Amino acid sequence: MTVAPTAPSSGTPTERQWWKTSVVYQIYPRSFCDSNGDGIGDLPGILSKLDYLVELGVDVVWLSPFYQSPNDDNGYDISDYRKIMTEFGTMADFDELLAAMHARGLKLVMDLVVNHCSDEHQWFVEACRSKDNPYREYFMWQPPAANGGPPTNWEAAFSGSAWELHEPTGEYYLHSFSKKQPDLNWPNPKVRTEVFELMRFWLDKGVDGFRMDVINMISKTPGWPQAKVVKPGPWQPCWQFIVNGPRLLEYLGEMRREVLSHYDILTVGETPGVNPSHGIAMTDAVDGPLNMIFQFEHMDVDGRGSKWNVVPFDLVKFKQIMTRWQDGLAGRGWNSLYLANHDQPRPVSRFGNDGEYRERSAKMLATMLHFQQGTPYVYQGEELGMTNVRFASIDAYRDLETLNMYAEAVGTFGKDPEDVMSAVYVKSRDNARTPVQWTAEAHGGFTTGTPWIAANPNYRTINAAAATADPDSVFHYYRRLIALRRLRLHPHPR
Ligand code: GLC
Ligand code: CA
Repeated sequence: MTVAPTAPSSGTPTERQWWKTSVVYQIYPRSFCDSNGDGIGDLPGILSKLDYLVELGVDVVWLSPFYQSPNDDNGYDISDYRKIMTEFGTMADFDELLAAMHARGLKLVMDLVVNHCSDEHQWFVEACRSKDNPYREYFMWQPPAANGGPPTNWEAAFSGSAWELHEPTGEYYLHSFSKKQPDLNWPNPKVRTEVFELMRFWLDKGVDGFRMDVINMISKTPGWPQAKVVKPGPWQPCWQFIVNGPRLLEYLGEMRREVLSHYDILTVGETPGVNPSHGIAMTDAVDGPLNMIFQFEHMDVDGRGSKWNVVPFDLVKFKQIMTRWQDGLAGRGWNSLYLANHDQPRPVSRFGNDGEYRERSAKMLATMLHFQQGTPYVYQGEELGMTNVRFASIDAYRDLETLNMYAEAVGTFGKDPEDVMSAVYVKSRDNARTPVQWTAEAHGGFTTGTPWIAANPNYRTINAAAATADPDSVFHYYRRLIALRRLRLHPHPR
């Protein structure tokens, strides 16, 4: 495979396009490794595992958010973009981690969550003080509808209305996700300036790029239209009004001009609801604002209407989607390649077989993915063939998306709890968030304390210690796949 001629930025193509020849490893810090026994993974825990990542052979590590956060959504609700989450460590721990990664030739990519922040962020606290507070316009406020209810019938991604009434000022604010995640008002140029400044803060520290959380949601359809009624209950899916809005490319173009083009970095946008034409517009080698995006079409093949409405996985459809993205972006944009992340079930359980053929199907899925054109992403534990989990009770689950869905389905709509649990077993994000299984010791060696979420009991057999000792393991298969890519693609071996 030849690397396409140079992209927008200056410098030699091979230096500036390292993200095309890299393999990225995603860490969800809360579940990766706990260094101090409080049951929560942390930055020193990551530091202690860098040699494992070097052995695996990945080039880049993307860390899910580690900013200060009240953890309504495990760090995807940020209350201070320039502070480290208390549970994860200190800024000194971060600086040490970054230096240690660079010393090993690993790059560090951060999560940038700027479609929304936390309701505990100072901006929102100020915005709530009064309607004429200078921060009011940092968020999206609307007066109540004629009946006093929310301005539209939009449903939040985490159930319920996408609008929350702020009683003291009498207006509703928009939250595409939980009510503790108010959407930022990107049409306000001050918001954009704030975002660009916080990006520079981290880039100037030496971080090597951003994975941009739901970045195609920053421009909404103007006019606050009502969503079509397609299901029971007052709140209706409204994705079409939230993604790929009319000013998306303008905002991303501004971000590229103001920030991205000044640094040699990797950028990947998380973009639900896109097709290959959006993919080209966002990643075009000449004028696309981003290096690559995470599309979702192949993640939707086993859900109908809603992810919780589980339907059998359609292999033909899956192959068609993968092919459409390969062909669609070839020679123009660039694909990211993923089967797993912190929001998705474990691929070996979802697309393979997590019983008798666990190892073989994990290797098969890896081969399928890593032999395509694009930048492969490995999500923590995928390289061990970690599987979905089945906790007996909903009480063992931690993810607010899962808990809200369960409460609504069982409480409001009176569904059979067993049916709801069977969807949870297949689709809950907690399948991906059980602790990384390091050893056969208690809690998979993730913590010496009580983990914030229980380990998958199969840690006794599926764990990194066993896998690294077995030359035929899923781990070593990933290692060899990654080495093969490096041999073909890396002009300068590390
Ligand atoms: C993205 C994240 C997910 C988060 C949501 C809101 O989809 O990957 O974990 O809950 O955005 O920030
Ligand atoms: Ca800890």
